[in-house]
Amino acid sequence: MANVTQARRSTVALKSAMAVSGLIMVAYLLAHMYGNLKIFNGREAFNEYAQHLRTIGEPLLPHEGLLWIIRVVLLVSVLLHVYAASTLWRRNRAAAGYVGGKRYQTKQNRTGIQRSYASFTMRWGGVTIALFIVFHLLHLTGNQVHPGGATPSPYDRVVNGFEIWWVVLAYAVAMIAVGFHLWHGFWSALTTLGQNHSSTRRDSKLNTFAIAVSVIITVGFLLPAFAILFGWVG
Ligand code: HEM
Repeated sequence: MANVTQARRSTVALKSAMAVSGLIMVAYLLAHMYGNLKIFNGREAFNEYAQHLRTIGEPLLPHEGLLWIIRVVLLVSVLLHVYAASTLWRRNRAAAGYVGGKRYQTKQNRTGIQRSYASFTMRWGGVTIALFIVFHLLHLTGNQVHPGGATPSPYDRVVNGFEIWWVVLAYAVAMIAVGFHLWHGFWSALTTLGQNHSSTRRDSKLNTFAIAVSVIITVGFLLPAFAILFGWVG
């Protein structure tokens, strides 16, 4: 029993937990980003889509059943991800004698052989995203924070908010943080799961793939925000 507990707390198990929980969140982000693009189809289509999210699976599942399953899976993923990240960070700091990433630096490559700008920003990027999620849920899910005016219509909540420049700016900063976090995170997750076969990050196909996924998600989320700000939607 002690061996099982020890194995679950091993660095490999924590890295795997981070990778799998991260990939679950990437899948959610792709679906969420795609769903948001329905804003370009107008008020009726977007509100119908938001309503549909609450009725999928009925009568087999109760009202909002699938939505609650998704919420619980996401919450467990976020908690696991943050727990594993902070435990691994503390272990790494203790093992590296507080010099951290410097261990991997060379004269030829100041950022280390498999490191990128994104890999240095994971901790603060993660904190920025966590703060954003709290604001975002109060804004677009709970409607407790309503720049531009409160409304029961999901379409109008989005449009009212993104007509205001500082709301778009706040979301844009958060989406750029999401993009950087995903670039390194997606690469790192697939590396943990054994998919990295190159010795340097820059030459790896995995890096190109990670950049492509991050750009698609970041741009896909920003499109509706800027389209509304410029008056093309709403
Ligand atoms: C410009 C970018 C985004 C827009 C316009 C947007 C829009 C929305 C809207 C309209 C809802 C409410 C859906 C409903 O209740 O019917 C929502 C919920 C949510 N969003 Fe976003 N979102 C954006 C970015 C993000 C990002 C980057 C994340 C995660 C890092 C995220 C995570 C969530 C979560 C967890 C929910 C709650 C789902 C629920 O439990 O009902 N969103 N979003």
